[in-house]
Amino acid sequence: MKSVIIYCSAYKNHTEKIAKVFATEINAELINLKESKDIIIDNYDLIGFGSGVYKERMASQLFSCVESLSLKGKSTFVFSTSGVGKKFYNKKLIRLLELKGAKCKGSFACKGSFISKDFSDNKIFEFMSKFAQGHPNYKDLSEAERFIKK
Ligand SMILES: Cc1cc2nc3c(=O)[nH]c(=O)nc-3n(C[C@H](O)[C@H](O)[C@H](O)COP(=O)(O)O)c2cc1C
Repeated sequence: MKSVIIYCSAYKNHTEKIAKVFATEINAELINLKESKDIIIDNYDLIGFGSGVYKERMASQLFSCVESLSLKGKSTFVFSTSGVGKKFYNKKLIRLLELKGAKCKGSFACKGSFISKDFSDNKIFEFMSKFAQGHPNYKDLSEAERFIKK
């Protein structure tokens, strides 16, 4: 099975770390949206889509990329890193994939550290940032490994 992982990791490369774990485990190619313009997926059986979460959403570049691809019948999975590290941020992209006729085989999320002042003065983010410190950590990477093996 040929696999590719398309990702956007604009802040601290946290999502890229997860993408690399997946790529190593399943021998997938990696496409960093920052560097690639023309994406051809015809030859791939499994496509992973991932990004960090920025202001409550996965990266808009990733949504545009998914919009532009022909995905009918393709097997896909979605992953994200975020301050809260929860899978609910993946739901919008999963819905879009399904609307495009793709099958979503799985969803993965973990925490990624951040400095709250980089994007908000809201105290809640300052509080949350303490819990995200040091992530993704060794355990997150192991969980990513377990997820992709399954
Ligand atoms: C501009 C900006 C906005 C963010 N907004 C959120 C958010 O709404 N919710 C959240 O849980 N984390 C938020 N974060 C934290 C990032 O999702 C987290 O650090 C993530 O791991 C970044 O991934 P990356 O290093 O791959 O870009 C934000 C970070 C930045 C820089």
